[in-house]
Amino acid sequence: MNPILTSHKLTKSFGKVRAVHRLDLDVNRGEIFGIIGPNGAGKTTLFNLITGEIRPDEGEVIFDGKDVTHDRTYRKCRMGIARTYQIPRPFLNMTVLENVLVGSLYGRGMGYSESKEKCEEILKRTGLLQKRDAVARSLPLFDRKRLELAKALSTGPSLLLVDEVAGGLNETEVEEVLEIIRSVREEGVTVLWVEHIIMAMQKGPDRLLVMHFGTELFCGTPDEALKSEEVQKIYLGAEED
Ligand SMILES: Nc1ncnc2c1ncn2[C@@H]1O[C@H](COP(=O)(O)OP(=O)(O)O)[C@@H](O)[C@H]1O
Ligand SMILES: [Mg+2]
Repeated sequence: MNPILTSHKLTKSFGKVRAVHRLDLDVNRGEIFGIIGPNGAGKTTLFNLITGEIRPDEGEVIFDGKDVTHDRTYRKCRMGIARTYQIPRPFLNMTVLENVLVGSLYGRGMGYSESKEKCEEILKRTGLLQKRDAVARSLPLFDRKRLELAKALSTGPSLLLVDEVAGGLNETEVEEVLEIIRSVREEGVTVLWVEHIIMAMQKGPDRLLVMHFGTELFCGTPDEALKSEEVQKIYLGAEED
């Protein structure tokens, strides 16, 4: 295979807490790669290490064949890595369209008219086009989650990291999120997707990594992963945050 992202022995501790511990990751180009694990398993820390928001104690991150372990976040953004946050972070006083334009103009460095066209396309794909002029502050949760995805897409990523975008949504909304993520993948974007909602992790990913105490407990198809005894024991017993 031709991996878009790998990590070798990636390690980050906070005091005595091993948030991510000697983790080897191998994400194939074009796949939806799901990550589950109990609260505190190190999923968000892994994302922070990949984007460069925090530095590892040890190990490396290889993106597109290049060692990017110590590259700054903005550089990684320009290289094609984008993420969403568990708690959406829109610019509250800006409209939906303006929020997405920021990523395109500054994150991607595109001109205004090209950006506007691209952003409208992204809003259409994320189901937000009709709300383009709504102020972000006024949006209900589902729209904020979709805006979070739209903002990440606006930088034109080849690798999209999605951190618990389906949390707090109802089943129909989760299905819509699944559709959006599938459509993103159809365009050739690789998706790394952390989620607690089992239905989403059963249906979305090609492969599923189960993390526990910062390490890999299991990696395989979602069916294999969710059926494995050790995973049921540690994960399903302590599923919710
Ligand atoms: N900035 C930080 N300072 C101290 N401890 C942290 C920090 N970030 C995460 N941790 C700890 O690292 C562990 C993994 O956290 P996190 O990556 O957020 O887990 P997850 O996203 O899987 O719920 C937890 O024990 C958490 O308390
Ligand atoms: Mg988290």
